[in-house]
This record gives sequence, C-alpha cells and structure tokens, in this order.
Amino acid sequence: MAKKVVTLAHYYCTPEIQQMADKVGDSLELSLFARDSHADTIVFAGVRFMAETAKILNPHAEVILPDRGSTCSLVTQTDVAALTAWRKQHPDHVHVAYINSSAEHKAVADWICTSRNVDDLIADLYAQGKKVIFSPDRNMGAYLNFQYGYDMPLWSAVCEVHDKFNEDALNAGLAEVADKSAFLIAHPESPLPVLKRADYVGSTSGMLNWVRQFAQAPDSVIFVATEDGILYNMKQARPELDIRQAPIYAGCQCNSCPYMKLNTIEAVKRAQQGEGIRIDYLTEAQMDAARLPIERMLEFSKRYYA
Ligand code: 13P
Ligand code: SF4
Repeated sequence: MAKKVVTLAHYYCTPEIQQMADKVGDSLELSLFARDSHADTIVFAGVRFMAETAKILNPHAEVILPDRGSTCSLVTQTDVAALTAWRKQHPDHVHVAYINSSAEHKAVADWICTSRNVDDLIADLYAQGKKVIFSPDRNMGAYLNFQYGYDMPLWSAVCEVHDKFNEDALNAGLAEVADKSAFLIAHPESPLPVLKRADYVGSTSGMLNWVRQFAQAPDSVIFVATEDGILYNMKQARPELDIRQAPIYAGCQCNSCPYMKLNTIEAVKRAQQGEGIRIDYLTEAQMDAARLPIERMLEFSKRYYA
C-alpha cells in the first residue's frame, strides 16, 4: 500500500509552497496537526525546530525537513550548555522556553510556549505565585516584562529577521502616511520600542485574525512587523485593504526569513518523494525529555486553541 504523506507549511513559506501544503498554520497549529496526523510521512516546510517538535509529538511518523539549512537564529544563538548553567543559577524559578528552540533546549525547560499562548501561560504561573525565567527570545521576554510588570530574567537570543524592525524607520514610515489612519500589528519577536507602538501584538495566526476582523476606515494603512510570507495570507483575506510591510530602513525588503525560504518547490517535491533531512537522530530519552514540557503547554492551551 502507498505511504500516506502530508505536507505542512508555516505562514512564512512562499505562496507556492503554501499551495503545496495540506495544512498551513502557525507553530502551535502545525504542532497539533502533526501530533494528530495518521500519515506515514510528514514533510515539514518550515524550520528544523518545528520538524523536531512534530517528530517528538508523533514519533511513529517519518518527519522530513526539505533543506538541511533550515535553522532559526534563536536556536543557533543559544548554547545549550551555557543555558543549562544559567537555568541552574535560578533554582527557585520555573523555566519557560519558547518553542523556537532545539530539542535539547526544550528538555531543560519546565514549560514550552508559543507566541500564541505565551501571555496566558506566564500570567497563569505568576497567578500561582511562581517566579519565571524565560528563554531564548530576549525581545519577547522584554515585551512580557514591560507589558505585565514582570521581572523575568531573560536569555539573550533574537530572531535575526524581527530584530531588524526599529522605531526610527517606523516613525519615518508613519510620517509618510500622516494623512491616513495608520495601524501597526507586530510579532512579539520584534524589539520593544516597536512593540510599544503596536495596536496589536500576537502570533502569526493572531495577526492574520486581526486583519480578517479589521473594521476601521477602508483607506487605513496597516503596517505589519513580521516575516513577509504572511502578507500573502493577509492580502488574500482582505484584498481591499492597504497592508504593508512595516519599514525597516530605506528600501530594505529584508524581513524575509532565509531559513524558511530554503523550502523551495524543488526541495519540497523531493521531500514528498522521501528525500531530505530525516528527523531520526533524536534518542527516545531526548524525545521523552522534550515532550514533557510541550505536552504541558498543549494541555494548557486547550483552553485557548479552538
Ligand atoms: P508563530 O508561532 O507565530 O507561528 O511564529 C513562529 C516564528 O518562527 C516566528 O518567527
Ligand atoms: Fe527563526 Fe526568525 Fe526565521 Fe522565525 S523568522 S524561523 S524566529 S529566524
């Protein structure tokens, strides 16, 4: 019998790749889809930590990443030995790690979060009187500390794509459309000065839903501070709206994630034929250790995930 293959694509993949996928979504949606899939093979058009999460949640499936180079700067900027030492310096804290982390990193965390559930999950821990340390995204952690008055010690890695957004370029962009109503929506991996100005801060799916429900003046301008792939989904959802990349600096279109864009048509087709990077290198013990904090999050997020 032919093997059943499903293809998952993150919103940051190009429109052509999204069209090749059985499911397009944010990290949380894709993790849940992978966990519940009965496919023999999952082709993950995303980045390595996402494919690893799929394998951890569905260890019987063969998971294939189309291109070896699809990493994430939040992963490459985090030395897990140093992170483990840092965690040991805070024995009375709960360690929450963002899903954009390697399997080894997840294994030293108590909880995993995604950009969709991070606010609620950390609020719940504080409500229980717990103290929290947060890794690896410094920008996301700084935003949570600012927004909710926390004092979480933060690991210091950044998304090289979102970290390019900046206040000066934003001010210049807003000045150019001073005659219109301008809105800013932003992913929490962006720097704090940009997030402080945003009308909405949330995950890729959260921003897409915000655009779907937008009910202000039709000649408004909506600036989007995230990776450029999702502009395709936003423009498809609301073609009549003026939706633009948030400015970075003059003429720069550099908000494209180089790792996501390695998912070319050829690479994804090859992966669908069984060629690519098999996520078969994690030991049972590594997967078990990483699964525990992910499952805690999935259980928690049942409340929020429709
Ligand atoms: P989401 O969890 O919002 O899909 O984001 C993943 C990501 O890599 C953002 O850069
Ligand atoms: Fe990682 Fe940033 Fe690319 Fe997301 S956009 S996968 S955080 S490098």
